[in-house]
Amino acid sequence: MHLALLGVLGCKEPGLVELHPPNPTTTTSSTPTGTTGDGPTWQDVAPILQARCLQCHLGEGPAPMSLETYESARPWAASMALAVRERTMPPFLVDASGDCEEFVDPGWLSEDEIATLEAWADDGAPAGPSTDPLVGTPLARMEDPDVMLDIGVDFLPDESPDQYRCFITDPGLATDRFLTGYDVFPGNPEIVHHVTLFTLDTPTAIRQAEALDAEDAAPGYACFGGAGVLQSRQITGWALGTPETWFPEGTGLKLYAGSRVVVEVHYHTHDGAEPDRTQVALALEDTVDTEAEVVMFYDLTMSLPPGDAATPYTFVTDTEWLVGDPTPLTMWGVFPHMHERGRSIRLEGTRNGATHCLADVPRWDFNWQRSYFYQQPIRLEPDDELRVSCVFDTSGETEPIPFGESTEDEMCVFGALVTR
Ligand code: HEC
Repeated sequence: MHLALLGVLGCKEPGLVELHPPNPTTTTSSTPTGTTGDGPTWQDVAPILQARCLQCHLGEGPAPMSLETYESARPWAASMALAVRERTMPPFLVDASGDCEEFVDPGWLSEDEIATLEAWADDGAPAGPSTDPLVGTPLARMEDPDVMLDIGVDFLPDESPDQYRCFITDPGLATDRFLTGYDVFPGNPEIVHHVTLFTLDTPTAIRQAEALDAEDAAPGYACFGGAGVLQSRQITGWALGTPETWFPEGTGLKLYAGSRVVVEVHYHTHDGAEPDRTQVALALEDTVDTEAEVVMFYDLTMSLPPGDAATPYTFVTDTEWLVGDPTPLTMWGVFPHMHERGRSIRLEGTRNGATHCLADVPRWDFNWQRSYFYQQPIRLEPDDELRVSCVFDTSGETEPIPFGESTEDEMCVFGALVTR
């Protein structure tokens, strides 16, 4: 099943650590070359990289290549210009231009900064008077977690390059507690592509997941885009380069006594890879001011016509459908989710005839699954019409594509962290 993904995923070919610049800047000399004219030099580019890129593009990762020195950054000039123009880097999928709400720590470059990187690349990436190395501040990672979940084995995925594996972990909760933050520590970041977390809230859900685990000979069980059982909640997702995540101050997600957490790991492996032992850090509190809930905006009846490179799909929902009664909600953050054929996803709210954009992902990328928190939480009134609009590329298909968890299925889903 996972082999079918290869073509669509667009996974960079060599393992992450071996990533090479696709179009090295043509000049062969690696010594500072001085300015070629009035255009930007390394002196203009360095502060942008330092502020926006270096927390990941450091020698020790999580990004595959360092941008700390002129010599290491220079061959990437053209790719960097393209990545920032297309907003694939820094990785932050929701539109943070200000046209559609404001989010915490987007890191999007300004138009001027993008133009500087483009002009620098066009000029052959000149050094200018000096090329002192930059000093980056690594991503913030969670220290002193209350619980460290562990997938429990040194797992080596078999030869199929893309694999989704669910591991049942036990946070050891004797009482109900509240999750206030988390962080993911991949054992082998070279093969861990992204991680999603689900809770198993009831004894039935735990039994069903354990049965799936028992049926599958290898450690854990095969899964995709979900824990494979009902009565599970998706907490969120994480991709290489996501820092520690904290839920908004005073809020927390209830984890039930005796419940389990499923750690779903997407492996992108290669010959000779070392095994992985992913761990997940949880921050827990006994009480919080306001209990947060994860709600999902989705439409089970979705069916996508095949053979269309830009198939739109839209559905409408409201707060009553989301939480079971017509109550106003405060929405703190969103978690957009589609599978491989997803191209874009957008959430809008209509109140008294006026429509507002609430979150917009103009360019969906399956590899960057994560939550996005609002600067200011959003109030959803019971009468608001909440509209989710997705666009898919189904050009490679011959049969309609249903809603579902497997790679053959699709999703057009917004998860949201809300309080009542
Ligand atoms: C939050 C972490 C993070 C930040 C911040 C970040 N990157 Fe990256 N970057 C990555 C990771 C991880 C990869 C590897 C992506 C992959 O293999 O899918 C990558 C890959 C790249 C690539 C190579 C291939 C591609 O996808 O285009 C370029 C070029 C790049 N980054 C440029 C930049 C620039 C320029 C900045 C700053 C403006 C930046 N990145 C900021 C994590 C980050």
